[in-house]
Amino acid sequence: MNLSLQSILGAETLADFETPGPVARGLPAAAYTSEAFFTFENERIFQESWTFAGFAHELAQRGDVVPVAIAGSAVLLVRDRENRIRAFHNVCRHRSLKLVEQPGNMGSKIRCPYHSWTYGLDGALQIAPYFGGTDPRAMPAGFEREQHGLVPVRSATWHDWIFVNLSGDAPPFEDFVAPLERHLEGLDLTGLTHLITIDLGEIAANWKLLLENFIEPYHVQFVHPTTTEQPLTDHYTVNEPGCLGCAVDVSGEAKRDDTLSADSRYLTLFPNFAFGLYLPDQIGVHQDVPLAPGLTHQRRAIYSIGPGSVSAERTEDLAMLWRDVHLEDQIICERLQQGRVSDAARGGVLSPVWEDSVRSFQELVVSRLR
Ligand code: FES
Ligand SMILES: [Fe+2]
Repeated sequence: MNLSLQSILGAETLADFETPGPVARGLPAAAYTSEAFFTFENERIFQESWTFAGFAHELAQRGDVVPVAIAGSAVLLVRDRENRIRAFHNVCRHRSLKLVEQPGNMGSKIRCPYHSWTYGLDGALQIAPYFGGTDPRAMPAGFEREQHGLVPVRSATWHDWIFVNLSGDAPPFEDFVAPLERHLEGLDLTGLTHLITIDLGEIAANWKLLLENFIEPYHVQFVHPTTTEQPLTDHYTVNEPGCLGCAVDVSGEAKRDDTLSADSRYLTLFPNFAFGLYLPDQIGVHQDVPLAPGLTHQRRAIYSIGPGSVSAERTEDLAMLWRDVHLEDQIICERLQQGRVSDAARGGVLSPVWEDSVRSFQELVVSRLR
């Protein structure tokens, strides 16, 4: 398909978004609803970026595998014999069966269920039984086994978070992650402990709406009046190249335990890594997997970084609080999606103070699709 931004959004609508006015406009509705736009994003954004793909703690043992969908492609995360995490296209080299369906432990080999081609955890093709005839070891003349291993996908693991770059030509991973690392200086992430993961299910909203909601503080006091205690006036946005988000330093004295009232950082790496830091000792990371223009699967992993252990009761309290907060956001994001059935608001308008981070996020999307 020959896609272009202009053909999908329309020249006039795109000009609307790009023309400076008293306040900036938001992305037009089609950016959230169009199949063509979604396909184009997969090609230009999710294949070409360092896309957040999974959690290392879910591949704790050698031989553990987790199949994931990245930009519509089947990718397999594997913990190999040397205890490193690798990524491959999750496709058998024989007749392209999707190799692994479910997370699990493969032992030392990954066997295709169709004709039993078998790969090592390094992706090498070890056995292609009877491929060349009646002898189980027979190979057709000239067939080189080394040329038929699983196709690797460039990957990097940073603390508990696995990123993949399908196109293979994104900038070095260290450069990608550096703008977020700068915000975490002084924080010791080596003692990160995973507490619990909440599966928030399939949310009927475009992936960008979830990210945009995460990086703007404007809605917090209105959408989360009882679950959070973080006044708008204590917030500010983070609008830097390579790291968009927002933050709050709570000025008041009364910090309660049953609401979210901690000094917090809500930081992202484009396109889909959402990192929440709740000082002094809690981290939450969202995984947003775009499934369709109006559908995103979301999970949240909760961690502690402090010394000492966190009780099961405290973990359950945290999970309950975050389920409530996410539900409040989810309802709003689904209504945002419903509002985008029409473009009566022509992309809407953005606050220069509280939503400049959203504008920068949207400009990034557009620049990657140009
Ligand atoms: S498709 Fe995998 S062995 Fe035939
Ligand atoms: Fe929110």
